[in-house]
Amino acid sequence: MAGTGNVIVVDHPLVQHKLTLMRRKDQPTTDFRRLVSEVSLLLAYEVTRDLPLETIEIETPLEPMTAPILAGKKLCFVSILRAGNGILDGMLDLVPSARVGHVGLYRDPETLVPVEYYIKVPDDLGERLTVVVDPMLATGHSAAAAIGRLKQAGAKKIRFVCLLAAPEGLAVVAETHPDVTVYTAAIDRQLDSHGYIRPGLGDAGDRLFGTK
Ligand code: URA
Repeated sequence: MAGTGNVIVVDHPLVQHKLTLMRRKDQPTTDFRRLVSEVSLLLAYEVTRDLPLETIEIETPLEPMTAPILAGKKLCFVSILRAGNGILDGMLDLVPSARVGHVGLYRDPETLVPVEYYIKVPDDLGERLTVVVDPMLATGHSAAAAIGRLKQAGAKKIRFVCLLAAPEGLAVVAETHPDVTVYTAAIDRQLDSHGYIRPGLGDAGDRLFGTK
């Protein structure tokens, strides 16, 4: 795990290997989806690394012991629709008790400003670590808008998880939400004029859901 400022690059060899397979343009939808799920599980492992523990008394088949268990209310994963949903499966495999929220945003074609069309999050968001997920942190505008909206809804401790980040998107999130750490499998070179991350992996939503 390598970190500078508010970014942590999860450089585990399995993450890097699977990311390379995912980037390949000839990767079929079923394999792409499975790889996203596997990498998401590994990213969830890193983003939950410092969850607080408490101890409880239990009995093993051989003797009583004091053993650690997660303390308090746990997590809320929030998917930015629609591609964020591809990340939820792997994360929920690791943390099945997490709550799940959804935020839907579209970009106004005239102003290019993200506009919210859907939000549903648990009432007790403020008591949970909120992990916002979207595979691609590209311009950073949707991420920044979603994070802002979640703060309005009560979220206090927020992290952002993506597969790939562009330097431009990281800068926008750092500027608008300096309190939010971004976890990513890689930082790519740049955005192109269509807002795609280069070299990237193409349109994550289309590749996940087999659309286009
Ligand atoms: N969204 C994607 O799906 N891919 C990109 O490269 C940028 C944004």
